[in-house]
Amino acid sequence: MPSLRWVSWILIAHLFVLTFVRSDSSSYSNKPEEIPKKFLQFAKEPELFDWMVGIRRKIHENPELGYEEFETSKVIRTELDKLGISYKYPVASTGVIGFVGSGQPPFVAIRADMDALPLQELVEWEHKSKVPGKMHACGHDAHVAMVLGAAKILQKHSEELKGTVVLVFQPAEEGGGGAMKIIEAGVLDNVNAIFGLHIVHNIPHGEVAARSGPMLAGSGFFEAVISGKGGHAAIPQHSIDPILAASNVIVSLQHLVSREADPLDSQVVTVAKFQGGGAFNVIPDSVTIGGTFRAFLKDSMIQLKQRIKEVITGQAIVHRCNATVDFLENDKPIFPPTVNDKELHEHFQNVAGDMLGIDKVKEMQPVMGSEDFSFYQEMIPGYFFFLGMENETSGHLDSVHSPYFRINEDALPYGAALHASLATRYLIELQSKVTSPEQKQHDEL
Ligand SMILES: *[C@@H]1O[C@H](CO)[C@@H](O)[C@H](O)[C@H]1NC(C)=O
Ligand SMILES: *[C@@H]1O[C@H](CO)[C@@H](O)[C@H](O)[C@H]1NC(C)=O
Ligand SMILES: [Zn+2]
Ligand SMILES: [Zn+2]
Repeated sequence: MPSLRWVSWILIAHLFVLTFVRSDSSSYSNKPEEIPKKFLQFAKEPELFDWMVGIRRKIHENPELGYEEFETSKVIRTELDKLGISYKYPVASTGVIGFVGSGQPPFVAIRADMDALPLQELVEWEHKSKVPGKMHACGHDAHVAMVLGAAKILQKHSEELKGTVVLVFQPAEEGGGGAMKIIEAGVLDNVNAIFGLHIVHNIPHGEVAARSGPMLAGSGFFEAVISGKGGHAAIPQHSIDPILAASNVIVSLQHLVSREADPLDSQVVTVAKFQGGGAFNVIPDSVTIGGTFRAFLKDSMIQLKQRIKEVITGQAIVHRCNATVDFLENDKPIFPPTVNDKELHEHFQNVAGDMLGIDKVKEMQPVMGSEDFSFYQEMIPGYFFFLGMENETSGHLDSVHSPYFRINEDALPYGAALHASLATRYLIELQSKVTSPEQKQHDEL
């Protein structure tokens, strides 16, 4: 009897300790709604904030174009090493893929793009770009710092993650289709969902904006060479004038949106390049035109692409010219529209609402810009949102792709905490969906 009593006492004590440890270590999963605020608080602490600012400035000083992000990727790997986070490199040339959590499924991904733009920075400040003609004018330096910030938050809570968070540091967003190469490398295999963000100048700091369904347009580029026969400008009957042919081609291209597209299905065809001739009195041999086309539906993109080719070649023939049309898909793959998953929209509103207050989570109108994040969304459910950085003292902030583009670094903790919260809560919710109450009880026994 006495020995048995001892055994039961030990058992009770053991159970007590187990229960205690259990409830302590999973403290935040018991109250998932508190995670976003806690993460934001942590991200604002100098330890994390100053570190992110430092990384962002370092990358800003040394901008690298698509598929050339060697030093940027080295900065990322050095920081992941310091955090003790395992990763794969190189993926898609310069990409880095990190893993935080159990190392087991389910997997959820957060993504940062790493590339800069071929643009001379005109902002005079201490950490101005040191590379002439290159600049982080789209905020991808901040995006990298935010996902690293999220990595640090997640690593601190890694034992409690109900699966694995995949950190996607992607090359070549600016037209190079880096996302496509990441997919080809198999990074999304077994990944359940992916989140991405873009920092923007015209939304207040502390606010986010997004929508369910189509949010950004698909986009493609085209270039055409229209060939005629050059000659003296005063003897046109001996020439075949490609300038007049190209002019008619451009006018006809405008009819694609005005006459062939559904007025309720927004589309754009812009000819932004027109090169031909060099003298006042010489008809040139050929003219080169080029531009972009945008639409929100994949079918509309396919239709536009086909009709752009037909109109250019057909209209050239009307004017006795020949035309070749190139969609430049090797260098600039056609981006699909960015379409946000409906269920992830709800998830985003819950998580961002818990962090910022639901009044700071805005519904946005679709815009004709595009993002290669859309490639991921064609494979798995994905969610893309905008993060504001405008404040009263920042004054007028220029838009992305401006040589005067500046970042309000106060936005960094928000991006980091949102990434980390969206991923953590996603895994918690996934677990509660797949584990029936009976199974849970069984696990606990
Ligand atoms: C257009 O192509 C045809 C067939 O190759 C050729 O005969 C003709 O000379 C070309 N016309 C011009 C203006 O280049
Ligand atoms: C507002 O933005 C500016 C410029 O980025 C920044 O220096 C400043 O600290 C911000 N102020 C507040 C109150 O958030
Ligand atoms: Zn950009
Ligand atoms: Zn961008």
